[in-house]
Amino acid sequence: MKENTSSFLIQTYRRFPIAFVRGRGARLWDAEGKEYIDFLSGISVCNVGHSHPKLLEAIQKQSNLLIHTSNLFRIIPQEKLAERLYNLTGMFSFFCNSGAEANEAAMKLARAYGKDKGKYKIISALNSFHGRTFGALSVTGQKKYQEKFHPLLPGVSFAPFNDLTAFASLMDEKTCAVILEPVQGEGGVYPAKKEFLQGIYQICKERDILLILDEVQTGLGRCGAMFCYQLYDIKPHILTLAKSLGGGLPMGAMLAQPDVAKAFSSGDHASTAGGNFLATTSALAVLDILEEENLPQKAKEMGEFLLNKLEELKTHLPAIKELRGIGLMLAMELSQPLAREVVSHALKKGLIINATNDYTIRFLPPLIISREEIEKGLHILKEVLYELLGYKEDKEAVSR
Ligand SMILES: Cc1ncc(COP(=O)(O)O)c(C=O)c1O
Repeated sequence: MKENTSSFLIQTYRRFPIAFVRGRGARLWDAEGKEYIDFLSGISVCNVGHSHPKLLEAIQKQSNLLIHTSNLFRIIPQEKLAERLYNLTGMFSFFCNSGAEANEAAMKLARAYGKDKGKYKIISALNSFHGRTFGALSVTGQKKYQEKFHPLLPGVSFAPFNDLTAFASLMDEKTCAVILEPVQGEGGVYPAKKEFLQGIYQICKERDILLILDEVQTGLGRCGAMFCYQLYDIKPHILTLAKSLGGGLPMGAMLAQPDVAKAFSSGDHASTAGGNFLATTSALAVLDILEEENLPQKAKEMGEFLLNKLEELKTHLPAIKELRGIGLMLAMELSQPLAREVVSHALKKGLIINATNDYTIRFLPPLIISREEIEKGLHILKEVLYELLGYKEDKEAVSR
């Protein structure tokens, strides 16, 4: 495939000239039959790996029966999924099709909850990412995404991530919600500090402000627990999920504690295809796989394994400035703006990674990845880093 993209598409994506045709586990193959190790999971979507047999079987079986009827009727797999999520979180669910939509639903619910008390303001973090629709974009604390689209939603303010004092100073009697990612993903993989998230949680509880946690990227095993908030010993009032929930089918969910969920009544929110038979059946299979294969725990172990290997590499390569992350959500920051070049070179050698900016390389492998696959991927990464950043005399060490 020579062209980067079709000229019939609206040019919103910068694409690599590679067309994948097949996937299995943590591996993908392109149209020429070349194999790639996947350290990205379709940006944290394929947490259970590509073409998991159990997922395929569930989707095939359901698509032979029924795909969609609308939310005007009962959808039994949707009800089962809501019950499963309730058992995991104690929250009620609304289903939609993406992360941005889940956050839209969260913000609307927070406004509805605060309405009678005159609360409407939302506080978010600088460097955050919550999606591209107008509401989600309005609480995304990065100018580059917003620039062309002003005016945005009013009543939104931003404070530096991990700065409790700055957040507290913005919270007033008109604040209905604080929205945060427990680990800022698109912003470059910055985990929240425990005292920060716990502090926000405490202030929110005291002042009747809702804490919305956006776990679109961190949720469902990625960080070494089913939900990242469990690692912080807190519980959000509203939780948003998407990406890996559908296992590759479009799927989003907004979960809310029962007393908060009551602020919505029928007609307040909807999504035509949200929670349809196919997507919710797929999500049920994803939850089965996560539990049966103990994938949150595996993400913790494999994350430690990968991080240790990266730390080792850092001792040889001073051009690696910092390593960050939790579980299998990790980032490597370089001291030179070569991250995008590293990504392109790695792809040519058969490793899929991603750059969140010119300096930061992000790793989001499927949670089912094996040690051998991590080692194989790291070997490619090492070669590329030494070629682009390393010292000549160290090259031999890499090939050994
Ligand atoms: C934390 C977070 N929230 C929301 C979104 C938006 O999700 P979607 O692209 O499914 O709308 C993303 C996407 O990267 C994300 O990482």
